[in-house]
Amino acid sequence: MAVLTNAPRGTQDLLPAQSGRWQYVENALLRTAELFGFHEIRTPVFEHTELFQRSVGDTTDVVQKEMYTFEDKGRRSITLRPEGTAGVVRAALQNGLLGGALPLRCCYVIPCFRYEKPQAGRLREFHQFGVEVFGPSSFDADAELISLCYEICGALELKGLKLHLNSIGCKECRQRYYEALRAFLRERESGLCDTCKSRMAKNPMRVLDCKSPECQQAVKGAPVMLDYLCEDCAAHFEGLKRRLSLLHIDYVIDPRIVRGLDYYTRTVFEFVSETIGAQGTVIGGGRYDGLVQELGGAPTPALGFAMGLERLLMQMEASGAEFPEANRCDLYIASTGEAAQQKALELCTALRQEGFIAECDCMGRSVKAQMKYAGKLGARYSAVLGDNELQSGGCTVKNMDDGSEHTLSLDGFTDSIYRLLLEGVYNGIIDAEPAIK
Ligand code: HAM
Repeated sequence: MAVLTNAPRGTQDLLPAQSGRWQYVENALLRTAELFGFHEIRTPVFEHTELFQRSVGDTTDVVQKEMYTFEDKGRRSITLRPEGTAGVVRAALQNGLLGGALPLRCCYVIPCFRYEKPQAGRLREFHQFGVEVFGPSSFDADAELISLCYEICGALELKGLKLHLNSIGCKECRQRYYEALRAFLRERESGLCDTCKSRMAKNPMRVLDCKSPECQQAVKGAPVMLDYLCEDCAAHFEGLKRRLSLLHIDYVIDPRIVRGLDYYTRTVFEFVSETIGAQGTVIGGGRYDGLVQELGGAPTPALGFAMGLERLLMQMEASGAEFPEANRCDLYIASTGEAAQQKALELCTALRQEGFIAECDCMGRSVKAQMKYAGKLGARYSAVLGDNELQSGGCTVKNMDDGSEHTLSLDGFTDSIYRLLLEGVYNGIIDAEPAIK
């Protein structure tokens, strides 16, 4: 039976102590994407199941084994999104976005759901930052997308990721490859899992990325798509490689990358870490020139990528990236007695309106207990208000880091505190700027 205080397997809580890191990373990702012209899109957490069957593909592991699918009360089959691309294409079509100015550039930060076997870096609820571009067919767009990944790595001090690049061709050149691959797989059919045996006829490339160890062993030495590219696909791939060299972006050609989703055409790529364990693919993406049409739109070339935020944070931590300090409470006002408590609340309200982080008691605790709490909070300054302070119209404000004390008038208190905090910054007492700008 489920234990009420245990989260479902493969999910994680994001606790207040870690949320600053996530906010920092998400802001940096959205900001860097904005520099390339991307704007955020938000689509529903769930979609009609058929959307994923048609786009991700009904012979993929994601659709066959990993989707959270259920019937809603209206007897519709609904699925929690296992990835972001399908929903973005659906939204672009539904809202007529592809009839407007192209290229259309969208980005998103979303939770995704896959029923996978949980392990380090692999969750059942995980988070992706992703981008999608609609319109350009040229390899320049592929290069620009990869250069965005590079800029993101720079902005986040993310080191140790290697770019793996491949082309999996188009519908036309893939036919010849499928024949060769099927011939290879037929000879090894007895060593394949049951799912792959049934995949061979319809979509033999899916056998290549099956997670079962028996299949991984059986496909060693399989023919690779790169040897079967048609002239146009080969020229596209060569063009991309030239652009990457121009941008000084290093890559390795990795003919084994086929990606686990059916919609890809031509360019596919992954940024892989060697330090965070078996689940080392931090970024995955590529071109999907046929998907918009597959979902009912006019033929529209498109491309994108997504990165797993849990893996991204693991890699940042492994590569010693620095995260900004969380904002501290600027002032804690302890109080004793009803009138002082009211005054403390009034002062806190005024300070907050000026952009300071201010707290006062709401637990009815003694001044001693309030000060203990201020210490635990790590407040920069504290003040104590009682009848004496209210009568004299002034109070002592203590610097909690060095113990120094300042007597301030309660008139113009906000301005005085502001000066005090800035003074701290200039004297190097405070390690970060006050919340106010
Ligand atoms: P994907 O390779 O399936 O691609 O996922 C992208 C990234 O999401 C992976 O590289 C990984 O970092 C993260 N990820 C995937 N599954 C899990 C999991 N179970 N636990 C933790 N992290 C995970 C896509 O989803 C495509 N929609 C990317 C794309 C966008 N292609 C074109 N546009």
